[in-house]
Amino acid sequence: DLLPLKDFLECDFPIGCAVEPPEVVGKPAELLAKHFAQVTTGNQMKPDAIQPTEGVFTFDRADQIVAFAEANGMRIWGHTLLWHNQTPAWWFLDAAGNPLQPTRAHRALLLARFEAHVTALAEHYGDRVWAWDVVNEVVDPEQADGLRRSRWYEVFGGGAYIGEVFKIARRVLPRKVKLFINDYNTEFPDKREALYNLVQDLKRGRVPVDGVGHQAHVDYKRDPQLLGESIDAFRRLRVLQAVTELDVSVSDYMEESLPSTPPERLAAQGRYYQELFAVLRARARHLESVTMWGLYDAVSWLRTWPVSRPHEAPLFFDDRLQAKAAYWGVVDPA
Ligand code: XIL
Repeated sequence: DLLPLKDFLECDFPIGCAVEPPEVVGKPAELLAKHFAQVTTGNQMKPDAIQPTEGVFTFDRADQIVAFAEANGMRIWGHTLLWHNQTPAWWFLDAAGNPLQPTRAHRALLLARFEAHVTALAEHYGDRVWAWDVVNEVVDPEQADGLRRSRWYEVFGGGAYIGEVFKIARRVLPRKVKLFINDYNTEFPDKREALYNLVQDLKRGRVPVDGVGHQAHVDYKRDPQLLGESIDAFRRLRVLQAVTELDVSVSDYMEESLPSTPPERLAAQGRYYQELFAVLRARARHLESVTMWGLYDAVSWLRTWPVSRPHEAPLFFDDRLQAKAAYWGVVDPA
C-alpha cells in the first residue's frame, strides 16, 4: 500500500492536482483523495466553461470538482480569470458583432465584462476558492515590452489591463482569496526576467498581486535546478509563490508519436522528479503549494498537445493508476 504523497510532503507544502469531472468518481477519485491535498480545475473554471454566452453562467462541472474537494478536505485553486485561450468569442465583440477596437469605450466594456465575470464567481464560490490565477500567460519575452500580444493587449494598446483586472479581482473577491499571476517557462532566464519586471512594476504601482505561479511544464532533459533559481529570484519581490501545473514530459524536442514509452525515459523521469522535489522541498517555506497538471498519464493534456503522442507519460501514475518511478523519485529520495 502506497504512502500518500500528501502525508510524505505534509511538512513541506500541500501537493495539488489538476482534474476534470471524470477524475472525481470511481478509482481515479480514490487515488486523488489518497494522495492530494489540493485540486485545481484543469478546464472547468476557464472563461469558456464558466460563461459560454454573455450573462449565462455554467458552474455545474466546476461544482462537481469543488464538491469532491470539499468532501475530502482539499483546498481549491481557481484557474483562471483571464487567458488568451479558452475565452469565448463574445468577450471581444461589440453589440453588433464587430471586433472590439482600441477605444476608451471598448476598454471600459472589456473591464465591465471582466468585473461581471468575477462577480459571478465571487458570489458562487466566495472564499471556498483559496487562490485564483487572475491572469494566465500574459508575458512574452520576445516582445520589447515583455508582454504577450493578445486581444486584451490590442484593445488596451499595452499591458495596462493587467493592473486593472487585479484591482477588480481584489475589490470583488473576499479579502483572504490570494491573487496570482501565472505563467510557463518561468524557469528560463528570459521569461523569468520578463515576468519579474512585470510583477515589480505591478507592485511599484500598488497593484494587489499576491503571488507568482510557476506552471513548470518541463521535460526530462531540462535542468531541474533552473526552477529553484527562479523561486530564489522572485523572493526579492516579496510575493507568494507556487508551482501550479507541474508535469515532466518524456518527449524529446519536436518529437512525433512513438509506438510506446521508452523504459529508460521513465527511469530518467524518476530521477528528474527526485532532483526536482529536492529543489522544491529545500524551498518549501517559499511555496504555497505544488500542483501536478493531471492525475495519471492517460488523462494528461500532453497525450494530445501539441501533437498526438500516445507515448507521453508525464505524471506520477500510469494509465492503470499504478505508481511509476516518478512517484518513487518523490517518496523514496534515497
Ligand atoms: C490545458 C488543458 O490541460 C487541456 O485539457 C486544454 O485542452 C488546454 O489547456 N497552461 C495552462 C493550462 O495554463 O490552462 C493548460 O491546460 C495547459 C498549459
